[in-house]
Amino acid sequence: MTSDRRIEEMWGQYNRAKELIPGGSGTMSKAPVREKHPHAPALIVRGEGCRVWDAAGRCFIDFRNALGPVTLGYSNEQVKEAIRKQLDNGIVFGHPSPLEGELAEKLVRLIPCAEQVRYLKTGGEAMGAALRLARAFTRRPVVLSCGYHGWINNTSGGRVGNPPEMAKLGRFLPWNNLEAFEQAVAEVGAENVAAISVAMPYADIYPNHPFYGQLRALADRIGALLIYDEIVTGFRVRIGGAQEFFNVIPDLAVFSKGLAAGMPISVFCGRADVMAHAATIPVSSTFSGETLSIAAALATIDIYENQGVIEHLWARGEQLTKGLNEIFTRHAFPMQVKGLPPCAAWSVGGENWNAVGQTHSQSASSIMDAFIDACYANGVSLYTVLYPNFAHTEADIAEALERIDKAVGSIKLG
Ligand SMILES: Cc1ncc(COP(=O)(O)O)c(C=O)c1O
Repeated sequence: MTSDRRIEEMWGQYNRAKELIPGGSGTMSKAPVREKHPHAPALIVRGEGCRVWDAAGRCFIDFRNALGPVTLGYSNEQVKEAIRKQLDNGIVFGHPSPLEGELAEKLVRLIPCAEQVRYLKTGGEAMGAALRLARAFTRRPVVLSCGYHGWINNTSGGRVGNPPEMAKLGRFLPWNNLEAFEQAVAEVGAENVAAISVAMPYADIYPNHPFYGQLRALADRIGALLIYDEIVTGFRVRIGGAQEFFNVIPDLAVFSKGLAAGMPISVFCGRADVMAHAATIPVSSTFSGETLSIAAALATIDIYENQGVIEHLWARGEQLTKGLNEIFTRHAFPMQVKGLPPCAAWSVGGENWNAVGQTHSQSASSIMDAFIDACYANGVSLYTVLYPNFAHTEADIAEALERIDKAVGSIKLG
Protein backbone atom coordinates (compact mmCIF):
# COMPACT_ATOMS: atom_id res chain seq x y z
CA MET A 1 0.00 0.00 0.00
CA THR A 2 1.28 3.43 -0.86
CA SER A 3 1.50 5.65 2.17
CA ASP A 4 0.51 9.30 2.31
CA ARG A 5 4.14 9.98 3.23
CA ARG A 6 5.40 8.60 -0.08
CA ILE A 7 2.85 10.64 -1.98
CA GLU A 8 3.94 13.80 -0.12
CA GLU A 9 7.57 12.99 -0.89
CA MET A 10 6.73 12.59 -4.57
CA TRP A 11 5.00 15.99 -4.72
CA GLY A 12 7.91 17.51 -2.78
CA GLN A 13 10.35 16.15 -5.35
CA TYR A 14 8.21 17.47 -8.21
CA ASN A 15 7.86 20.89 -6.57
CA ARG A 16 11.64 21.17 -6.11
CA ALA A 17 12.15 20.39 -9.81
CA LYS A 18 9.49 22.93 -10.68
CA GLU A 19 11.56 25.66 -9.05
CA LEU A 20 14.19 25.01 -11.72
CA ILE A 21 11.89 24.05 -14.61
CA PRO A 22 9.38 26.76 -15.47
CA GLY A 23 5.89 25.28 -15.64
CA GLY A 24 7.17 22.02 -14.13
CA SER A 25 7.67 20.23 -17.47
CA GLY A 26 8.90 20.92 -20.98
CA THR A 27 5.61 19.42 -22.20
CA MET A 28 2.90 21.73 -20.92
CA SER A 29 0.13 19.11 -20.87
CA LYS A 30 2.25 16.75 -18.76
CA ALA A 31 2.73 19.10 -15.80
CA PRO A 32 0.46 17.87 -12.98
CA VAL A 33 -1.69 20.43 -11.17
CA ARG A 34 -2.38 19.19 -7.66
CA GLU A 35 -5.17 21.68 -6.96
CA LYS A 36 -7.15 20.25 -9.88
CA HIS A 37 -6.08 16.62 -9.68
CA PRO A 38 -4.96 15.80 -6.14
CA HIS A 39 -4.73 12.08 -6.95
CA ALA A 40 -2.59 12.55 -10.07
CA PRO A 41 0.80 10.86 -10.30
CA ALA A 42 3.23 13.80 -9.99
CA LEU A 43 6.17 11.77 -11.30
CA ILE A 44 6.16 8.57 -13.34
CA VAL A 45 9.11 6.23 -12.92
CA ARG A 46 8.21 3.20 -15.04
CA GLY A 47 5.89 1.90 -17.75
CA GLU A 48 5.20 -1.67 -18.79
CA GLY A 49 2.57 -2.65 -21.36
CA CYS A 50 -0.49 -0.53 -20.63
CA ARG A 51 0.44 0.38 -17.04
CA VAL A 52 2.59 3.07 -15.46
CA TRP A 53 3.97 3.41 -11.91
CA ASP A 54 4.44 6.71 -10.10
CA ALA A 55 7.29 7.68 -7.78
CA ALA A 56 5.05 6.85 -4.80
CA GLY A 57 4.65 3.26 -6.04
CA ARG A 58 1.06 3.51 -7.31
CA CYS A 59 0.10 1.71 -10.51
CA PHE A 60 -2.29 3.14 -13.13
CA ILE A 61 -3.88 1.65 -16.23
CA ASP A 62 -2.70 4.28 -18.65
CA PHE A 63 -4.48 5.92 -21.57
CA ARG A 64 -2.18 8.96 -21.78
CA ASN A 65 0.53 6.96 -23.53
CA ALA A 66 3.02 9.82 -23.36
CA LEU A 67 0.33 11.99 -25.04
CA GLY A 68 0.19 9.72 -28.06
CA PRO A 69 3.51 8.18 -29.09
CA VAL A 70 3.32 4.99 -27.04
CA THR A 71 1.09 3.14 -29.49
CA LEU A 72 2.58 -0.32 -28.88
CA GLY A 73 2.59 -0.11 -25.09
CA TYR A 74 5.44 0.76 -22.77
CA SER A 75 8.67 -1.14 -23.04
CA ASN A 76 7.84 -3.21 -26.14
CA GLU A 77 10.39 -6.04 -26.36
CA GLN A 78 10.81 -6.05 -30.14
CA VAL A 79 11.39 -2.29 -30.24
CA LYS A 80 13.79 -2.44 -27.29
CA GLU A 81 15.77 -5.20 -29.02
CA ALA A 82 16.08 -3.10 -32.21
CA ILE A 83 17.31 -0.12 -30.16
CA ARG A 84 19.83 -2.25 -28.21
CA LYS A 85 21.20 -3.78 -31.40
CA GLN A 86 21.71 -0.39 -33.00
CA LEU A 87 23.13 1.07 -29.78
CA ASP A 88 26.06 -1.32 -30.04
CA ASN A 89 26.93 0.25 -33.42
CA GLY A 90 26.59 3.89 -32.39
CA ILE A 91 23.85 6.49 -32.01
CA VAL A 92 24.55 9.13 -34.62
CA PHE A 93 27.29 9.65 -37.22
CA GLY A 94 28.84 12.33 -39.39
CA HIS A 95 27.43 10.76 -42.55
CA PRO A 96 24.00 9.23 -43.23
CA SER A 97 23.35 5.69 -42.01
CA PRO A 98 21.80 3.05 -44.28
CA LEU A 99 18.79 2.95 -41.96
CA GLU A 100 17.60 6.32 -43.30
CA GLY A 101 17.04 4.99 -46.81
CA GLU A 102 15.57 1.77 -45.48
CA LEU A 103 12.94 3.68 -43.48
CA ALA A 104 12.29 6.07 -46.39
CA GLU A 105 11.40 3.12 -48.64
CA LYS A 106 8.87 1.84 -46.13
CA LEU A 107 7.31 5.26 -45.53
CA VAL A 108 6.95 5.98 -49.25
CA ARG A 109 5.18 2.64 -49.61
CA LEU A 110 2.88 3.19 -46.60
CA ILE A 111 1.96 6.90 -46.70
CA PRO A 112 -0.28 7.79 -49.66
CA CYS A 113 1.07 11.32 -50.27
CA ALA A 114 4.74 10.44 -49.67
CA GLU A 115 6.93 10.48 -52.77
CA GLN A 116 9.85 11.66 -50.65
CA VAL A 117 10.45 11.96 -46.90
CA ARG A 118 12.74 13.83 -44.51
CA TYR A 119 13.35 13.24 -40.79
CA LEU A 120 13.36 15.64 -37.87
CA LYS A 121 12.84 15.19 -34.15
CA THR A 122 9.53 16.74 -33.10
CA GLY A 123 6.12 17.18 -34.63
CA GLY A 124 6.03 20.96 -34.37
CA GLU A 125 9.46 21.25 -35.96
CA ALA A 126 8.38 19.11 -38.91
CA MET A 127 5.20 21.19 -39.30
CA GLY A 128 7.44 24.29 -39.37
CA ALA A 129 9.46 22.65 -42.15
CA ALA A 130 6.34 21.72 -44.15
CA LEU A 131 5.00 25.27 -43.94
CA ARG A 132 8.37 26.67 -45.00
CA LEU A 133 8.46 24.30 -47.99
CA ALA A 134 4.96 25.36 -48.98
CA ARG A 135 5.97 29.02 -48.88
CA ALA A 136 9.15 28.30 -50.88
CA PHE A 137 7.28 26.25 -53.47
CA THR A 138 4.36 28.62 -54.00
CA ARG A 139 6.31 31.83 -53.31
CA ARG A 140 3.33 32.95 -51.27
CA PRO A 141 3.37 34.09 -47.62
CA VAL A 142 0.11 33.15 -45.88
CA VAL A 143 -0.91 29.88 -44.25
CA LEU A 144 -4.49 29.09 -43.22
CA SER A 145 -4.45 26.59 -40.36
CA CYS A 146 -6.94 24.51 -38.47
CA GLY A 147 -5.98 22.70 -35.26
CA TYR A 148 -2.86 22.52 -33.08
CA HIS A 149 0.47 22.11 -34.92
CA GLY A 150 2.98 22.55 -32.08
CA TRP A 151 4.61 25.61 -30.54
CA ILE A 152 7.16 26.39 -33.24
CA ASN A 153 6.89 29.22 -35.78
CA ASN A 154 3.60 30.37 -34.41
CA THR A 155 2.00 27.16 -35.68
CA SER A 156 -0.02 26.74 -32.50
CA GLY A 157 -1.59 30.15 -32.82
CA GLY A 158 0.25 31.50 -29.76
CA ARG A 159 1.31 35.03 -30.69
CA VAL A 160 3.20 36.14 -27.59
CA GLY A 161 6.94 36.28 -28.21
CA ASN A 162 6.63 36.62 -31.98
CA PRO A 163 7.01 39.88 -33.92
CA PRO A 164 3.50 41.26 -34.60
CA GLU A 165 4.26 41.18 -38.35
CA MET A 166 4.06 37.38 -38.20
CA ALA A 167 0.38 37.58 -37.32
CA LYS A 168 -0.32 38.67 -40.91
CA LEU A 169 1.18 35.46 -42.24
CA GLY A 170 -1.06 32.95 -40.54
CA ARG A 171 -4.77 32.64 -39.87
CA PHE A 172 -6.18 30.11 -37.40
CA LEU A 173 -9.59 28.95 -38.50
CA PRO A 174 -12.28 26.64 -37.13
CA TRP A 175 -12.79 23.01 -38.16
CA ASN A 176 -15.66 22.20 -40.47
CA ASN A 177 -16.32 25.80 -41.39
CA LEU A 178 -15.59 26.18 -45.09
CA GLU A 179 -17.15 29.63 -45.04
CA ALA A 180 -14.48 30.86 -42.60
CA PHE A 181 -11.78 29.56 -44.96
CA GLU A 182 -13.45 31.14 -48.00
CA GLN A 183 -13.72 34.42 -46.16
CA ALA A 184 -10.06 34.32 -45.10
CA VAL A 185 -9.05 33.62 -48.72
CA ALA A 186 -11.10 36.60 -49.85
CA GLU A 187 -9.52 38.82 -47.19
CA VAL A 188 -5.86 37.89 -47.71
CA GLY A 189 -6.20 37.28 -51.48
CA ALA A 190 -6.08 33.82 -53.06
CA GLU A 191 -2.75 34.70 -54.68
CA ASN A 192 -1.17 35.06 -51.22
CA VAL A 193 -2.18 31.70 -49.73
CA ALA A 194 0.72 29.23 -49.70
CA ALA A 195 -1.02 26.43 -47.82
CA ILE A 196 -4.00 25.17 -45.93
CA SER A 197 -2.96 22.99 -43.00
CA VAL A 198 -5.23 20.83 -40.91
CA ALA A 199 -5.08 18.64 -37.79
CA MET A 200 -8.09 16.48 -36.90
CA PRO A 201 -10.39 17.61 -34.07
CA TYR A 202 -10.72 14.38 -32.11
CA ALA A 203 -14.28 14.76 -30.87
CA ASP A 204 -15.76 16.22 -34.06
CA ILE A 205 -14.84 13.65 -36.64
CA TYR A 206 -16.60 10.66 -38.17
CA PRO A 207 -16.03 8.35 -41.16
CA ASN A 208 -16.62 10.10 -44.49
CA HIS A 209 -16.48 13.55 -42.92
CA PRO A 210 -16.67 15.95 -45.89
CA PHE A 211 -14.27 18.64 -44.61
CA TYR A 212 -11.02 17.11 -45.90
CA GLY A 213 -12.50 16.95 -49.40
CA GLN A 214 -13.73 20.53 -49.12
CA LEU A 215 -10.28 21.76 -48.12
CA ARG A 216 -8.70 19.75 -50.97
CA ALA A 217 -11.02 21.42 -53.48
CA LEU A 218 -10.39 24.87 -52.04
CA ALA A 219 -6.59 24.42 -52.08
CA ASP A 220 -6.74 23.24 -55.71
CA ARG A 221 -8.94 26.14 -56.71
CA ILE A 222 -6.59 28.79 -55.28
CA GLY A 223 -3.32 27.02 -56.16
CA ALA A 224 -2.31 26.48 -52.53
CA LEU A 225 -0.86 23.31 -51.03
CA LEU A 226 -2.85 21.12 -48.65
CA ILE A 227 -0.88 19.94 -45.61
CA TYR A 228 -2.09 17.32 -43.11
CA ASP A 229 -0.80 17.28 -39.58
CA GLU A 230 -0.88 13.48 -39.07
CA ILE A 231 1.16 13.68 -35.87
CA VAL A 232 -1.60 11.94 -33.92
CA THR A 233 -3.62 10.30 -36.71
CA GLY A 234 -0.66 8.60 -38.42
CA PHE A 235 -0.02 5.08 -37.12
CA ARG A 236 -3.27 5.30 -35.18
CA VAL A 237 -6.36 5.85 -37.37
CA ARG A 238 -4.49 4.07 -40.14
CA ILE A 239 -0.76 3.55 -40.67
CA GLY A 240 -1.01 6.20 -43.39
CA GLY A 241 -3.17 8.43 -41.18
CA ALA A 242 -6.27 10.45 -42.02
CA GLN A 243 -5.31 10.61 -45.70
CA GLU A 244 -5.55 6.81 -45.94
CA PHE A 245 -8.74 6.67 -43.86
CA PHE A 246 -10.57 9.47 -45.70
CA ASN A 247 -8.88 8.83 -49.05
CA VAL A 248 -8.28 12.53 -49.62
CA ILE A 249 -4.59 12.99 -50.34
CA PRO A 250 -2.68 16.11 -49.28
CA ASP A 251 0.40 17.57 -50.97
CA LEU A 252 2.49 17.35 -47.80
CA ALA A 253 2.04 15.64 -44.43
CA VAL A 254 3.76 15.36 -41.08
CA PHE A 255 3.97 12.19 -39.00
CA SER A 256 5.56 11.73 -35.61
CA LYS A 257 3.91 10.30 -32.52
CA GLY A 258 3.18 6.69 -33.42
CA LEU A 259 6.04 6.19 -35.81
CA ALA A 260 8.71 4.85 -33.45
CA ALA A 261 6.79 3.60 -30.40
CA GLY A 262 7.91 6.52 -28.24
CA MET A 263 11.34 7.30 -29.67
CA PRO A 264 11.67 10.94 -30.82
CA ILE A 265 11.36 11.23 -34.57
CA SER A 266 9.18 13.17 -36.97
CA VAL A 267 8.74 12.95 -40.71
CA PHE A 268 7.62 15.51 -43.22
CA CYS A 269 6.80 14.02 -46.57
CA GLY A 270 4.86 14.53 -49.77
CA ARG A 271 5.13 15.49 -53.41
CA ALA A 272 8.68 15.21 -54.76
CA ASP A 273 8.50 18.58 -56.54
CA VAL A 274 7.70 20.30 -53.22
CA MET A 275 10.01 18.16 -51.06
CA ALA A 276 12.94 19.02 -53.37
CA HIS A 277 13.05 22.44 -51.70
CA ALA A 278 14.11 20.80 -48.42
CA ALA A 279 17.56 20.32 -49.94
CA THR A 280 17.97 23.95 -50.93
CA ILE A 281 16.15 26.12 -48.33
CA PRO A 282 17.76 24.32 -46.38
CA VAL A 283 15.89 22.33 -43.76
CA SER A 284 18.65 20.71 -41.70
CA SER A 285 19.21 19.43 -38.18
CA THR A 286 22.10 17.59 -36.46
CA PHE A 287 19.95 14.84 -35.00
CA SER A 288 17.94 14.11 -38.13
CA GLY A 289 18.91 10.54 -38.93
CA GLU A 290 19.74 9.62 -35.30
CA THR A 291 19.84 5.88 -35.62
CA LEU A 292 18.17 4.59 -32.43
CA SER A 293 14.91 6.28 -33.38
CA ILE A 294 15.13 5.05 -36.96
CA ALA A 295 15.86 1.50 -35.81
CA ALA A 296 12.85 1.81 -33.48
CA ALA A 297 10.70 3.09 -36.36
CA LEU A 298 11.70 0.12 -38.55
CA ALA A 299 10.81 -2.33 -35.75
CA THR A 300 7.56 -0.47 -35.08
CA ILE A 301 6.50 -0.62 -38.73
CA ASP A 302 7.29 -4.33 -38.78
CA ILE A 303 4.95 -4.85 -35.82
CA TYR A 304 2.22 -2.68 -37.40
CA GLU A 305 2.39 -4.59 -40.67
CA ASN A 306 2.54 -8.07 -39.21
CA GLN A 307 0.61 -7.98 -35.95
CA GLY A 308 -2.60 -6.10 -36.78
CA VAL A 309 -1.91 -3.03 -34.62
CA ILE A 310 -4.44 -0.74 -36.33
CA GLU A 311 -7.23 -3.35 -36.00
CA HIS A 312 -6.30 -3.73 -32.33
CA LEU A 313 -6.40 0.03 -31.67
CA TRP A 314 -9.86 0.22 -33.28
CA ALA A 315 -11.22 -2.83 -31.44
CA ARG A 316 -9.95 -1.81 -27.99
CA GLY A 317 -10.90 1.81 -28.68
CA GLU A 318 -14.45 0.71 -29.54
CA GLN A 319 -14.69 -1.42 -26.38
CA LEU A 320 -13.46 1.53 -24.35
CA THR A 321 -15.61 4.27 -25.87
CA LYS A 322 -18.75 2.12 -25.86
CA GLY A 323 -18.14 1.13 -22.23
CA LEU A 324 -17.51 4.71 -21.17
CA ASN A 325 -20.66 6.03 -22.81
CA GLU A 326 -22.67 3.28 -21.10
CA ILE A 327 -21.17 4.30 -17.74
CA PHE A 328 -21.96 7.98 -18.33
CA THR A 329 -25.55 7.17 -19.29
CA ARG A 330 -26.08 4.78 -16.37
CA HIS A 331 -24.84 7.36 -13.86
CA ALA A 332 -26.59 10.22 -15.67
CA PHE A 333 -23.15 11.84 -15.74
CA PRO A 334 -22.95 14.73 -18.22
CA MET A 335 -20.02 13.52 -20.31
CA GLN A 336 -19.60 11.64 -23.56
CA VAL A 337 -16.79 10.18 -25.61
CA LYS A 338 -16.89 11.10 -29.29
CA GLY A 339 -14.80 10.69 -32.41
CA LEU A 340 -12.83 7.82 -33.93
CA PRO A 341 -12.16 5.03 -31.38
CA PRO A 342 -8.33 4.97 -31.71
CA CYS A 343 -8.18 8.64 -30.63
CA ALA A 344 -11.58 9.63 -29.25
CA ALA A 345 -12.10 12.68 -27.06
CA TRP A 346 -14.35 13.86 -24.25
CA SER A 347 -17.32 16.06 -24.58
CA VAL A 348 -18.78 17.59 -21.44
CA GLY A 349 -22.41 18.70 -21.42
CA GLY A 350 -23.75 18.79 -24.97
CA GLU A 351 -26.21 16.16 -26.09
CA ASN A 352 -25.72 13.92 -23.09
CA TRP A 353 -26.18 16.84 -20.72
CA ASN A 354 -29.61 17.41 -22.26
CA ALA A 355 -30.34 13.73 -22.75
CA VAL A 356 -30.03 13.01 -19.04
CA GLY A 357 -31.89 16.17 -18.13
CA GLN A 358 -29.15 17.38 -15.82
CA THR A 359 -28.84 20.92 -14.64
CA HIS A 360 -25.53 21.41 -12.92
CA SER A 361 -24.09 24.57 -11.53
CA GLN A 362 -20.57 23.26 -12.11
CA SER A 363 -18.64 24.42 -15.15
CA ALA A 364 -17.71 21.94 -17.86
CA SER A 365 -14.02 22.17 -16.92
CA SER A 366 -14.68 21.49 -13.23
CA ILE A 367 -16.79 18.43 -14.15
CA MET A 368 -13.96 17.22 -16.35
CA ASP A 369 -11.42 17.80 -13.56
CA ALA A 370 -13.57 15.93 -11.04
CA PHE A 371 -13.86 13.01 -13.48
CA ILE A 372 -10.15 12.85 -14.30
CA ASP A 373 -9.19 13.04 -10.63
CA ALA A 374 -11.68 10.35 -9.58
CA CYS A 375 -10.18 8.11 -12.25
CA TYR A 376 -6.67 8.74 -10.90
CA ALA A 377 -7.96 7.88 -7.42
CA ASN A 378 -9.16 4.56 -8.87
CA GLY A 379 -5.95 3.80 -10.74
CA VAL A 380 -6.75 4.98 -14.27
CA SER A 381 -4.67 7.65 -15.99
CA LEU A 382 -6.53 9.66 -18.66
CA TYR A 383 -5.83 12.56 -21.01
CA THR A 384 -7.94 14.91 -23.11
CA VAL A 385 -7.58 12.40 -25.95
CA LEU A 386 -8.24 8.74 -25.16
CA TYR A 387 -5.28 6.71 -26.39
CA PRO A 388 -5.62 2.91 -26.37
CA ASN A 389 -2.40 1.08 -27.18
CA PHE A 390 -1.43 -2.32 -28.60
CA ALA A 391 -0.72 -3.66 -25.10
CA HIS A 392 -4.26 -3.02 -23.78
CA THR A 393 -5.99 -6.41 -23.79
CA GLU A 394 -9.75 -6.89 -23.70
CA ALA A 395 -9.37 -7.74 -19.98
CA ASP A 396 -7.33 -4.56 -19.32
CA ILE A 397 -10.05 -2.43 -20.88
CA ALA A 398 -12.73 -4.26 -18.89
CA GLU A 399 -10.71 -3.65 -15.71
CA ALA A 400 -10.26 0.03 -16.58
CA LEU A 401 -14.01 0.37 -17.22
CA GLU A 402 -14.82 -1.20 -13.85
CA ARG A 403 -12.52 1.28 -12.14
CA ILE A 404 -13.98 4.20 -14.11
CA ASP A 405 -17.50 3.04 -13.22
CA LYS A 406 -16.51 3.20 -9.56
CA ALA A 407 -14.87 6.59 -10.10
CA VAL A 408 -17.96 8.11 -11.76
CA GLY A 409 -20.16 6.66 -9.00
CA SER A 410 -18.06 8.49 -6.40
CA ILE A 411 -18.43 11.96 -7.95
CA LYS A 412 -20.94 14.36 -6.40
CA LEU A 413 -21.75 17.15 -8.84
CA GLY A 414 -22.82 20.54 -7.54
C1 LIG B 1 -1.81 17.34 -33.83
C2 LIG B 1 -0.49 17.78 -33.26
N1 LIG B 1 0.31 18.51 -34.02
C3 LIG B 1 1.52 18.92 -33.57
C4 LIG B 1 1.95 18.60 -32.31
C5 LIG B 1 3.30 19.05 -31.85
O1 LIG B 1 4.20 17.99 -31.82
P1 LIG B 1 5.47 18.10 -30.86
O2 LIG B 1 4.97 18.29 -29.48
O3 LIG B 1 6.23 16.82 -31.07
O4 LIG B 1 6.26 19.29 -31.35
C6 LIG B 1 1.14 17.86 -31.47
C7 LIG B 1 1.57 17.54 -30.10
O5 LIG B 1 0.80 17.23 -29.23
C8 LIG B 1 -0.12 17.43 -31.96
O6 LIG B 1 -0.94 16.69 -31.18
